[in-house]
Amino acid sequence: MSVPLTFAGKVVVVTGAGGGLGREYALAFGRRGASVVVNDLGGDIKGGGKSSVAADKVVEEIKSKGGKAVANYDSVEDGEKVIQTALDSFGRIDIVVNNAGILRDRSFARTSDLDWDLIHRVHLRGSFMVSRAAWNHMKNQKFGRIIMTASAAGIYGNFGQANYSSAKLGLLGLANTLAIEGQKYNVHCNTIAPIAGSRLTETVMPPDLVESLKAEYVAPLVLWLSHDQCQENGSLFEVGAGWIGKLRWERSLGSIVRKKNQGMSPEAVRDQWNRICDFTNAKKPSTITESMASLVEVLSRVETEEGISANPTRGAPAPA
Ligand code: NAI
Repeated sequence: MSVPLTFAGKVVVVTGAGGGLGREYALAFGRRGASVVVNDLGGDIKGGGKSSVAADKVVEEIKSKGGKAVANYDSVEDGEKVIQTALDSFGRIDIVVNNAGILRDRSFARTSDLDWDLIHRVHLRGSFMVSRAAWNHMKNQKFGRIIMTASAAGIYGNFGQANYSSAKLGLLGLANTLAIEGQKYNVHCNTIAPIAGSRLTETVMPPDLVESLKAEYVAPLVLWLSHDQCQENGSLFEVGAGWIGKLRWERSLGSIVRKKNQGMSPEAVRDQWNRICDFTNAKKPSTITESMASLVEVLSRVETEEGISANPTRGAPAPA
């Protein structure tokens, strides 16, 4: 039998852990020996109100099973206070699961300043504040794991969720850069786009799906990505129903649409459109260096060749 993954000696903050997915993560970490800070503001799904009840209940659940947990009732916007609870109670911080979230769905035309700002404050700024507060502790101890929670709504777009989808994909950008800055300190950051029945999704999913898409089918990925054995960094996963898949970018070979010493015209773009959008033999650049390298190569090709290729099989060069 394989060796179980445990978190003895590790301190984890799970934000928004008073219910739904966060609760499941907190319970799972607690069962496997982590000291857990159960953060939850205890408000409603639109970001109104606050209460200590939700976090307290989860702390009691963890403790009743022999685990170690404390509650924190601050908003993730007060990230320093959330992390301070971990330091005061357990003396360190190893793992941050940025999970707290609210919804304020509106068609784009009806989205108010408040709808936009609250969503961005809780999801994007909240994850920034909590992660930044933990960052130097993780760097100094040469261990840290940070999880960002994105959403399929951010990856693919979703009607009525302009505020939410932009904040959620903003988290992916944040995670991509944290992964690069943290790598040499063994501070890793990955992003998940989960699907599970919860109070957030019960308004949009039929009851049988809410029931069958259990949060416990998401938690094991979060635990694995948080473990010191896991070397994954800077990746994005969709997860739900007991399935996990990894996503990456694909870029068409593209087309050079200008010639040396000539201007570049919209007509040339139009005439090359099919090739620009043709994903045959697409590349999968994974770093900004790869992305830039191919453009630098285009510059030299335009200098030495004829620009708009007479040979339709020639596209933009592959990234170096
Ligand atoms: P949930 O509503 O059950 O849990 C979110 C928790 O965050 C609540 O307990 C709430 O009190 C807490 N919270 C809200 N604002 C907070 C703040 N400012 N500070 C601290 N805590 C706060 O929702 P669910 O479904 O468990 O969502 C968890 C995360 O997963 C969210 O970020 C959500 O956007 C994301 N997500 C969920 C999906 C799903 O299918 N359930 C789909 C895609 C993303």
